[in-house]
Amino acid sequence: MIFPKLVPWDVWKHSGHAKGVYPEIYYVCPPKTRDPAFWEEVIDNYKVTLEVPIDLIAEKIDKPLGGMCYAQCPSFWPFMQGKTVSDESFPVKVFDRSGTSHRYESGGIHGMERVDEFHRIELLFIGTQEQVLEHSKQMQECYKHVFNDILDLEWRMAWVTPWFMAQEGLTGLAGQTGVGTIDFEAPLPYRGKDGEWLEFQNLSVNGDKYPKGFNVKLQSGKDVWSGCSGIGLERWASTFFAQKGFEPNDWPDAFREKVGEMPKGIKFM
Ligand code: SER
Ligand code: ZN
Repeated sequence: MIFPKLVPWDVWKHSGHAKGVYPEIYYVCPPKTRDPAFWEEVIDNYKVTLEVPIDLIAEKIDKPLGGMCYAQCPSFWPFMQGKTVSDESFPVKVFDRSGTSHRYESGGIHGMERVDEFHRIELLFIGTQEQVLEHSKQMQECYKHVFNDILDLEWRMAWVTPWFMAQEGLTGLAGQTGVGTIDFEAPLPYRGKDGEWLEFQNLSVNGDKYPKGFNVKLQSGKDVWSGCSGIGLERWASTFFAQKGFEPNDWPDAFREKVGEMPKGIKFM
């Protein structure tokens, strides 16, 4: 699927983000009008000064109608909102890698492992409690295979505050058994032996939070659960290059087989 990447407030009210995400949102403000005459002043001002008149622009844009994609999966849920799903459609598995996410992360740019715009594959799964827990287990096995047998990484799993709680400004673990977030973390050798490990992706069982928040039901009347997993491409790349280097000859064979020959880059003079 292609999830919308501009998130209106209504989605964040249902997902819980409206409770706490404000310090990190990139806000989206539409023009007050698309009438060219209203913008003439800005256009003329730029032509004369060759500076973009941002104070003037600030007067001509409206209040934010929402923000840019932050957590990726919340925008999926209006698709199912208010619906009752037939038993035979479960479990539902969704894949989205259609765009960027944006976070105003304090501390500025640290390099590739922490950026304000990043690319992430978001995997979303929806089913009964048993189906969601089972799918999460299967995915853990798949990730283990990729990290051990293909990328040959040093990594670990950590059970952390669920992302959906953290993004509401909460800490601690979820109340429901089996609900929570696994962070996949890796050491970055350039940070030194005791350096902080990088969270390079996560996998979560989100319980009934989203189906409840967006009023999704199942034909049989059983509780609907969901889970999601975010695969951060810049984080994967940071982890891989930090541990394996930039020289393709040093990369693990299983990975090189998949990559094939790297094309020659652009040579700058
Ligand atoms: N939606 C989850 C998160 O934001 C997984 O990508 O962490
Ligand atoms: Zn998600």
